[in-house]
Amino acid sequence: MQTLVNNGPVMLKGLFSRLTGSADEIRRPHARLDKTMHVALDHVSMSYGERKVFENLSCGFPRGRISVILGGSGSGKSTVLRLIGGLISPQTGSVIVDGQDVTGLSERGLYNVRKKLGMLFQGGALLDSYNVFENLALPLQEQSRMSRSEIAQEVHATLKAVGVEDVAELLPGQLSGGMLRRVALARAIIRKPTILLCDEPFSGLDPVSIKRIEALLMAINQKHTITLIVVSHHVPSTMRMADRVLLLLGKRAVEGRPEELRRGPDKEAAEFLNDGMEQPAGRE
Ligand SMILES: Nc1ncnc2c1ncn2[C@@H]1O[C@H](COP(=O)(O)OP(=O)(O)O)[C@@H](O)[C@H]1O
Ligand SMILES: [Mg+2]
Repeated sequence: MQTLVNNGPVMLKGLFSRLTGSADEIRRPHARLDKTMHVALDHVSMSYGERKVFENLSCGFPRGRISVILGGSGSGKSTVLRLIGGLISPQTGSVIVDGQDVTGLSERGLYNVRKKLGMLFQGGALLDSYNVFENLALPLQEQSRMSRSEIAQEVHATLKAVGVEDVAELLPGQLSGGMLRRVALARAIIRKPTILLCDEPFSGLDPVSIKRIEALLMAINQKHTITLIVVSHHVPSTMRMADRVLLLLGKRAVEGRPEELRRGPDKEAAEFLNDGMEQPAGRE
């Protein structure tokens, strides 16, 4: 477990393990990043106008694992995902996605990085006037050279993978909350991303649906070795699924394995996780 902010210049053991390097590496500091980290923030400061969200935040999300970003409302959880997706740029620092700094990339560069990313953001992003099939076919039509029958095959296979193969002809408005979440997830993974960003995938769901979506995310992670970065403030599900937790605590952030944080010496982190274990399902 490590405190990531206000803790001196070297934040993550291993992340900057080689402090000297060739001139080329010095020009590209991310070349020194720990290769096990699929995504990393390196000394990131981020403000929206006057509102400072992070100062000097460094953290990492390991390849092929499930990381959960926890924290109170307004602590900056969604901001971390927006930074990784290149939707916003930090004032200082780097955001490394699969070895590449996405800050300051051109639209074309960002486009190439985003091909590796699946995003399940709040609000779902399904188009209400298109049925489920069309909603899933759209990203394939726009961004690949697949034939109509290949697209149809892929849409049905993906719907099957998330357990809703019979809803293709329905409109989003005709689906239950749990089904909608599955379809949104199908849309996020249909282009086979290697990194999946999920913002509060459990919010508003009943306990049974939470466990189902959780199981689905874990299956997706294992079957396709996708790096999963999930924003949540549902502690029980985090304790079940996370390999690693990034806990945003206002002025500082802490990261580590969930059990380690719960038992560890950082009282605030332990308290956050222990108190959260009492949290009823669906109250995100
Ligand atoms: N576009 C924006 N303009 C101004 N402030 C923002 C904007 N987006 C987020 N914020 C502020 O930044 C902080 C972190 O936001 P966010 O990352 O959405 O928090 P979380 O997802 O943890 O609830 C909040 O205080 C929020 O009000
Ligand atoms: Mg949020």
